[in-house]
Amino acid sequence: MKITAAITGVGAYVPDYVLTNKELVTLVDTTEEWIVSRTGIQERHILKGEGQGTSVMGIKAVEQLLAKTGTRAEDIDLIICATTTPDLVFPATANIISAAVGAKKAFSYDMQAACSGFMFALATGAQFIQTGTYTKVIVVGADKMSSIIDYTDRSTCIIFGDGAGAVLLEPTTDGLGLLDQQLCSDGNGEPFLHQKAGGSRRPPSAETLAGREHFVYQEGATVFKFAVKNMADVAAQVMERNQLTANDVAWLVPHQANKRIIDATAHRMGVGPEKVMLNIHRYGNTTNGTIPLCLADYESQLHKGDNLIIAAFGGGFTWGSLYLKWAYDAKPSQ
Ligand code: UT7
Repeated sequence: MKITAAITGVGAYVPDYVLTNKELVTLVDTTEEWIVSRTGIQERHILKGEGQGTSVMGIKAVEQLLAKTGTRAEDIDLIICATTTPDLVFPATANIISAAVGAKKAFSYDMQAACSGFMFALATGAQFIQTGTYTKVIVVGADKMSSIIDYTDRSTCIIFGDGAGAVLLEPTTDGLGLLDQQLCSDGNGEPFLHQKAGGSRRPPSAETLAGREHFVYQEGATVFKFAVKNMADVAAQVMERNQLTANDVAWLVPHQANKRIIDATAHRMGVGPEKVMLNIHRYGNTTNGTIPLCLADYESQLHKGDNLIIAAFGGGFTWGSLYLKWAYDAKPSQ
């Protein structure tokens, strides 16, 4: 019997502070109407406080996941953290999370694929399960985007927020879990979405600081066009090769970058808005957090056997789509 990797639980965390569109209007030249109509975002959560890194949110998401699934931290084999805003250049944020939650047996490492990172990490974690190598893998998606956002740049500061989510992967032989994937990268996308300094090519210096080079740089309209085309194409391809019609799809789980990109993807798949997970209005674009935060928010509506199509697009460029069959009915309290 073929072993597949099923998601058997979800945890999530967003920080308390809510940055509203109203507050953004006081920071940059924008309007609440522009933000809502062009992005669908009403508010986002921001992690405040000295010395608070991405791991703070990842730890909370994993702790919730362990509690909800009744899993002992010592039984975890592997923790992968997808993040674009690691606590430190090294060691990995996954190591920090792992130590904090007491996952003593686990090995852990980070993955970086910008907004597609969680999806790539989920596919990677699943391989360790499918091969029979491990039985309990946690995949975390977490970002403190506010740490690399220029709050004087109206074209980016309105979009991003902070947050984290985590899923537990376990083996099944019931035909549930991750069934197909198509993941893509094109490094020619670099000029349109990147952070200019802070890496080995351009280490931090007085000049890079003065030039505001440690923030997200995005040519929004170009990224938008690539995102709409690639995310929709790849999701449609994954549906087609698995002989899934729109009727067969219970949920589209899209990366939450812009409501207009999500609408275009759903339209291309022929999936109605009632089947589209959407929380961008509450969280904005939390980069690696978007997909697990969606799964957490919609967990109570998911049923065993539901066909889910996950789709994402992000810096790199990176993009792709996963097909998975949901593995459990949520408990009434969830
Ligand atoms: O998650 C990773 C991948 N990222 C994405 O998928 C994001 C993709 N891009 C987007 O979501 C959109 O491109 C944005 C939301 C970033 C921008 O929306 P847009 O409709 O593509 O606007 P634009 O960049 O084409 O700019 C149109 C106008 C410009 O003014 P002019 O030159 O026409 O006078 C901008 O200066 O809108 C202006 N603008 C704003 N106006 C008010 C840009 N940002 C703002 C703002 N408030 N916050």
